[in-house]
Amino acid sequence: MNPLMTPEQFKAARELLALYIENGVDVALGETPVDHFAPDLGEAAEPPQSIVRIDRREATERTRPPIPPAAQPAARSDPALQAPDVAVMAARETARKAASLQELRAILETFEGCPLKLTAKNLVFADGNSQARVMFVGEAPGRDEDLEGLPFVGRSGQLLDRMMKAVGLDRTSAYIANIIPWRPPGNRTPTPQEAAICLPFILRQIELCNPDFLVCLGGPAAQALLGVKEGILKTRGRWLSYQTGTREIRAIATLHPAYLLRQPLQKRLAWRDFSMLRKALGES
Ligand code: URA
Repeated sequence: MNPLMTPEQFKAARELLALYIENGVDVALGETPVDHFAPDLGEAAEPPQSIVRIDRREATERTRPPIPPAAQPAARSDPALQAPDVAVMAARETARKAASLQELRAILETFEGCPLKLTAKNLVFADGNSQARVMFVGEAPGRDEDLEGLPFVGRSGQLLDRMMKAVGLDRTSAYIANIIPWRPPGNRTPTPQEAAICLPFILRQIELCNPDFLVCLGGPAAQALLGVKEGILKTRGRWLSYQTGTREIRAIATLHPAYLLRQPLQKRLAWRDFSMLRKALGES
């Protein structure tokens, strides 16, 4: 029991934390915003409130989990505190060096330029068959994916599996990745900087996988990879072309399975898109 709280305050705080966790908020951010890109976090500066992971068990036992050493504010030399454009350039340079998907994964495991890595439990690189003709690309891992280190393993992943099955695909005949390979804390939308830092890696991943067909799941993947500006409802349902770096392939955008879980009536649109994919696979 925290001596600074009355039993009622303690109970209320504990219930609030439990509510946060139930709603997927398992990372607590400090009350004062921390600019992790600020160049001048000198030793003398007041240490910023750090990002703290909420542990399910701890949260029910006490109200203020201590800051674990691994989550202490990184020193100024930490590449995750670099200016975003420096991190983007570093990402481009390192991604280009990968000669295979294995090398790319190894590079990402040690890449320190993206702040999302600080709060994620695991790198979520890919699942499926890298020799497949079809590559699906989603947005970013959620909680289940972060825990397992694999894309699309939660509820939306189960729906994706059913959609793939309907057109004769599964994880042995498709390759699956995300434009962001680390879970954003609390499943928030990745910032434009985070997206820009991660982009060179997914571009290289597509180039190395070299599929015949690219399927973008949801608006963010379509916008990042296909250069479209409109929303997904306007973009979906038509074949576009994608330049892998070595050749041009066919690409299509469709609705994200997480959206379909919220809007099941829209599954008919996704069904049309997947039927286009099945037809194209059968024709070539
Ligand atoms: N949503 C995504 O976009 N990717 C995942 O891996 C899981 C959910």
